[in-house]
Amino acid sequence: MKVVILKGSPKGKTSVTLQYVKFIQKKYPQHDYVVHDVAHQIKKIENNVALYNAIIADVESADGILWAFPVYTFFVPAQYLRFIELIQERHSTKVFKNKYAAALSTSIHFHDNIAHNYMNAVCNDLEMNYTGFFSAHMDDLLKKNQRANLLNFARFFFNSMERKTQHQKKYLPVHQAIFEFFPKPKNETIDSRGKKILVLTDRYDWNSNLGKMINEFTFLFNNDAESVSLDGIQINGGCMGCMKCGYELKCAHNDQFLSFFNTKIIPADILIFAIEIKNRIFSSKWKEFFDRRYFNNHIPELKGKQIGFLISGSLSQMPYLSDFFNGLAEFQQANLAGMVVDECHDSDQIETYLHQLAGNTIEFSIGNYFTPPTFLGTGSHKVFRDEIFGKIRFICQADHRYYIKNNLYDFPHKNYKNRMFNVLMTFLTKIPKFRKELYKRAEVEMCKPYQKVVERV
Ligand SMILES: Cc1cc2nc3c(=O)[nH]c(=O)nc-3n(C[C@H](O)[C@H](O)[C@H](O)COP(=O)(O)O)c2cc1C
Repeated sequence: MKVVILKGSPKGKTSVTLQYVKFIQKKYPQHDYVVHDVAHQIKKIENNVALYNAIIADVESADGILWAFPVYTFFVPAQYLRFIELIQERHSTKVFKNKYAAALSTSIHFHDNIAHNYMNAVCNDLEMNYTGFFSAHMDDLLKKNQRANLLNFARFFFNSMERKTQHQKKYLPVHQAIFEFFPKPKNETIDSRGKKILVLTDRYDWNSNLGKMINEFTFLFNNDAESVSLDGIQINGGCMGCMKCGYELKCAHNDQFLSFFNTKIIPADILIFAIEIKNRIFSSKWKEFFDRRYFNNHIPELKGKQIGFLISGSLSQMPYLSDFFNGLAEFQQANLAGMVVDECHDSDQIETYLHQLAGNTIEFSIGNYFTPPTFLGTGSHKVFRDEIFGKIRFICQADHRYYIKNNLYDFPHKNYKNRMFNVLMTFLTKIPKFRKELYKRAEVEMCKPYQKVVERV
């Protein structure tokens, strides 16, 4: 079997993900493998058509494709996303049709489910026979049972190719009706009340629905809201994963990104992301932005801000994208004030929603309103807390300092009162009479502290 591995780490030979690929190669030497370092070489691939064509020719002659990538900011790295964009832009989708596909990632399991749902959708759109994914914690290769698991995954993938098994699509083709937004401004403006509002997009196209939504939104504030486009900022490329930012949050890239981030994004009270969905996701330019914010490592630099999204595209058919928007707000400890999506296909409604979003951002900002985190924010905190306290602390030292300063190492075992209470109660419940009484009264007793708060009002 010929297996083409499309490697998605911006790192070259030192990629952790690559070691997983090599492990599979060594354990199953009976197959022919071709590894293409598509993320690491993305600039070369973009500029050298012969190189791109050679990769596509390999895909064409392959029995199966293994998408092997690290999870970067909930998805695949920007450079990998650019490669996926090229497949569409250069009309190469046909060569992927009916090929067997699987996805292998390494990460710290922070929203890795989103990355895999997205890759599943990509494979479904390319009409590949997508067999499944293996989402390894980056350290899994160091564990015997996980190595065995990895080999099971690879064997299942190879067997699928040999047996020509069929796999049901999880994502059906995106249904996208044509709709043009015709704004009819209401002539009502909203007082920004001294709040700094920034609308961020990846490129201006004033005739597009998104362009018109941006225009309308900023107009509502009497042009008191600033809008910035990422394509006007000198950004040399995506995050390279070098981790040189870990000690004092300084990026190894020498371009305008840091100064732009610190002078425009950080001072904003209200941050609106204006995003057009294309090919199942936002552009690789946007992804570059999300990845490059990693110079702040795991510090929630948008904490305390109100954020909103103006979206053009079929968001409701891409639930993983909604998870990303919600997850981003929650991990950042910002408040998601709302989203306006043009897929309702009703100009009047869009206008109303824009108005509401604008008003809410100001009201929430003034009232200091933050919705409590759901599982997305709560889970993220625990994953980061344990990783930063654990193995990556020596490299993420800026994170560690921030976590100490902000009391984010809130491990339950540090609550000595609870621990003592648990020891005592666990001991007492060994006595059958006590146990019977405790479970009889549990419901009433558990509610008492909450009832007391209500009674005090
Ligand atoms: C810019 C950047 C963003 C990352 N984002 C995530 C993430 O969203 N979720 C996660 O679980 N791990 C994330 N990681 C951790 C990597 O996925 C992990 O270290 C991976 O094993 C790196 O693989 P590689 O060496 O092949 O690039 C991120 C790392 C970097 C450098």
